[in-house]
Amino acid sequence: MSVNQAEDPRKVTTHRLQQMKERGEKISMITSYDYTMASIVDEAGVDVILVGDSASNVVAGNMTTLPISLEQMIYHGKSVVKAVNRALVVVDMPFGSYQISPTEAVRNAIQMMKVTHADALKLEGGIEIIDAVKQILAAGIPIMGHLGLMPQSINKYGTYNVRAKEDSEAEKLLSDALELEKAGCFALVLEKIPAALARKVAEAVRIPVIGIGAGGNVDGQVLVLHDMLGMTKGFSPRFLRRYADLNSIINDAVSRYVQDVKSSDFPNETEQY
Ligand code: KIV
Repeated sequence: MSVNQAEDPRKVTTHRLQQMKERGEKISMITSYDYTMASIVDEAGVDVILVGDSASNVVAGNMTTLPISLEQMIYHGKSVVKAVNRALVVVDMPFGSYQISPTEAVRNAIQMMKVTHADALKLEGGIEIIDAVKQILAAGIPIMGHLGLMPQSINKYGTYNVRAKEDSEAEKLLSDALELEKAGCFALVLEKIPAALARKVAEAVRIPVIGIGAGGNVDGQVLVLHDMLGMTKGFSPRFLRRYADLNSIINDAVSRYVQDVKSSDFPNETEQY
């Protein structure tokens, strides 16, 4: 009897993600950056938790993902791993930690795995970083690739617009996906590319393809937690579905608390010792 993976309490592994693709069972992935949120997300049954370098934006308030450091990613990774029982935890290697040389990349990757106890790492890029990818894989560290819009390369692109609309970029993306698969990556993220191209990639590779703004014909979906919970304001790309309006809920709760403190309504008789 086949078990629906979402109802299977065992730890999710890269092997199970592969089985899910083979069975046509969609993979759910969401970002988390801290212990409390990660424990809620894990209990809700998400398959993969990504400790994304989007922490640079949504936690640290930076305009881009470039400033976040190796130490900061390790801090977030460690906090998340402590909370998670079931989901596979993937941590983003930050900008500058894997581009200088394959040796430096593998040193930083080992450091991230040793300290965070994460299950895998994610790196942005294709053929340009393939030597680093191979070295990290050779050290026994599973890698999730990331193609399409790669926020660490924002200064090269100049915009966060949809990528790979032109044939030449689409062909390079497909060839990069095949290279990453051949090198041994266990999965791929495709960010903000035409749905038809994402489908073509998902059909061309055997490993799971997880999309964000890449349409529904891929093997799974990922969203940034703060965006899908409606905590962030002023960010409304077409691909983002908001499942809650936590911004209003938190604002309302904090305003009521402020009023209660000002009016001396809080604490009352039963809320003291
Ligand atoms: O850092 C991040 O949150 C990501 C996702 C958008 C895939 O890389």
